Amino acid sequence: MVVLSVLTPVLAVVLCLVIGFMLVRSAQTETTSSTSSGETERTPKADFRPWVDQDLQDDTEIKGREDEDGDWVDSNEEEELLHVAYSASVYPEETMLERSKDFYTQMNQRRSVRFISPEPVPREVINNVIRTAGTAPSGAHTEPWTFVVVSDPETKHQIRLIVEEEEEVNYRQRMGDKWVHDLSRLKTNWIKEYLDVAPYLILVFKQTYGILPNGKKRTHYYNEISVSISCGLLLAALQNVGLVTVTSTPLNCGPQLRLLLKRPANEKLLMLLPVGYPASDATVPDLKRKPLDDIMVHI
Ligand SMILES: Cc1cc2nc3c(=O)[nH]c(=O)nc-3n(C[C@H](O)[C@H](O)[C@H](O)COP(=O)(O)O)c2cc1C
Repeated sequence: MVVLSVLTPVLAVVLCLVIGFMLVRSAQTETTSSTSSGETERTPKADFRPWVDQDLQDDTEIKGREDEDGDWVDSNEEEELLHVAYSASVYPEETMLERSKDFYTQMNQRRSVRFISPEPVPREVINNVIRTAGTAPSGAHTEPWTFVVVSDPETKHQIRLIVEEEEEVNYRQRMGDKWVHDLSRLKTNWIKEYLDVAPYLILVFKQTYGILPNGKKRTHYYNEISVSISCGLLLAALQNVGLVTVTSTPLNCGPQLRLLLKRPANEKLLMLLPVGYPASDATVPDLKRKPLDDIMVHI
């Protein structure tokens, strides 16, 4: 009896240790298996790819989905779609050749410009370039994009503060020596003066799912590819009117910028584009583009 009463607390302690150990092991196994399947989980250190945007780990969305999982609609719940005749512009071959060359020449002059003039840009021009971006194809015509146009100086400054704070950590800690070295030729760093100076900042959000007027959710297939294509059209439209930008993907700023701009949890920041005329003393790195033979395979 005496032996038993001495042993009981010892056994209880041993039992607690065993249960604790098992719980820790099962939590570790869960983390490892879920990271391999979902973009929303933290990347294991051995597989750390800092350029894969950690902004996609915005818990607010994950939580929202879990809470209301029954609220999704299938596309067949929507109305039948009419099909109408399509007619395209048809050009003689000579004109086609000329147009293709002209467009290439114009697009080949596009450069990422990090020195932007504060000179005002007509608002209607910005509306039109965004209309152009909105003509992009999208998975199942879901149009999963939101373009937030910021011209308010105070909001631009708030954006700058968020981006510079995160970018300094990115450059000093997250990006690693190789990435920082690769960028050094471009002379980029975490100081982003253009975020205050450019007359417009366009923040492009991808909608990871849609929310219908009745509150139900709709799958946005290939939303990131769709929004990336629309950004390509946006860049072309800016080039077409003589405006410049620099494609930027501010790492780890997404959740803060989304909250600042009061965007809903289904939206994730994909790109931040400062837009304006180039500064009169703007410079760009003297980069060369690959020739056709290096980028095209004709079979
Ligand atoms: C997805 C993507 C992300 C980029 N992110 C940045 C960035 O964060 N900061 C920056 O200064 N430039 C950024 N750039 C611009 C590239 O550095 C630039 O496109 C490249 O050096 C080629 O120069 P060009 O655009 O003048 O042809 C990015 C470009 C792309 C396509």
